[in-house]
Parts: sequence; C-alpha cells; structure tokens
Amino acid sequence: MKRAVRVKVNGTDCEQAVDVRSTLADLLRENLDLTGTHVGCEPGVCGACTVLFDGLPVRACLMLAAQADGHEVTTIEGVAPPGEALHPIQEAFAAKHGLQCGYCTPGIIMSACAFLKEHPAPTDGEIREMLAGHLCRCTGYHFIVEAIAEAARALAGAGPRP
Ligand code: FES
Ligand code: FES
Repeated sequence: MKRAVRVKVNGTDCEQAVDVRSTLADLLRENLDLTGTHVGCEPGVCGACTVLFDGLPVRACLMLAAQADGHEVTTIEGVAPPGEALHPIQEAFAAKHGLQCGYCTPGIIMSACAFLKEHPAPTDGEIREMLAGHLCRCTGYHFIVEAIAEAARALAGAGPRP
C-alpha cells in the first residue's frame, strides 16, 4: 500500500508516493537518489544513515518514510550542495584524515553538524561521547576526533589546532 509523503529535503519541497513500510533511508536513496545517506546495518546500530530531521540527528533506517510527512530533512548532499565549497566540517575531515573508505563519514558529519551547534568548543571527551553512536571500521576514531575538533575551531574562526 502506498501513501503520499510531502517532505522538504535539503531545502526543496518533494512529494513522493512511498510504500507504507518504506524507511526514510529508502525514500532518500531510492526515490530521491540521495545515495550519500549510507545504510550499514539497518537495525539502527552503526549510525551510517544519520540525517538531520528538523535539525536533529536521526537514523534514517529506523524511521518510516511516512513519519517524515510535513517535516524537513537534511542529508550530506545538503551540507555542501554540488558545485559549492565544502563545509568546514568536510574540509576538516579531509585535512585531518578523518576518513578512509568513507562509508561511515556522511552519518558522522551529519551528527557533527548538530553537535557543534550545541557544543561550539567541545572537549575531546565530548566528541568521543557523541561518536559513541557511530561505528567506523577504518580509522580507529582518533583522526575523526581530531577532524571534529579542527572543524569546531574553523567554525569559531580560530586558527588550526596546535
Ligand atoms: S544503517 Fe541505520 S544505523 Fe546502521
Ligand atoms: S572510514 Fe571506513 S568505516 Fe569509517
């Protein structure tokens, strides 16, 4: 059974007919071709599918697409639209080697966007606590922590981390 869902995605109003059992991740990836939202596990463990839902991080594999009706979603594609400069968080991940295969990266960056709004000058401990909801099989987390700390400094207009 299908139902219509109206949702604002990355600033654009969309209307899609979705199966009532489709997840928000399905809507983003399959209906809207926004494949930057990765699906790593599906039962809500890895955090790879994290997007912003009305500004707050959620796991797109755990929400039904129908629950997004009337709401606003931001994906990694909306953080730095094609043709525009990278977001400072993305720049910091590149500069600090915060990614290897990149599978976990979009989800972590979406969480970091929300986290740095609430914690503009986070400690490494606070960053590690936020990362507890994300699995990375490549980097060992040290460089991800460095990247988020660097991004916080960049967003605050401070120089690079000593
Ligand atoms: S795919 Fe959603 S938490 Fe892993
Ligand atoms: S960079 Fe490969 S899983 Fe995180």
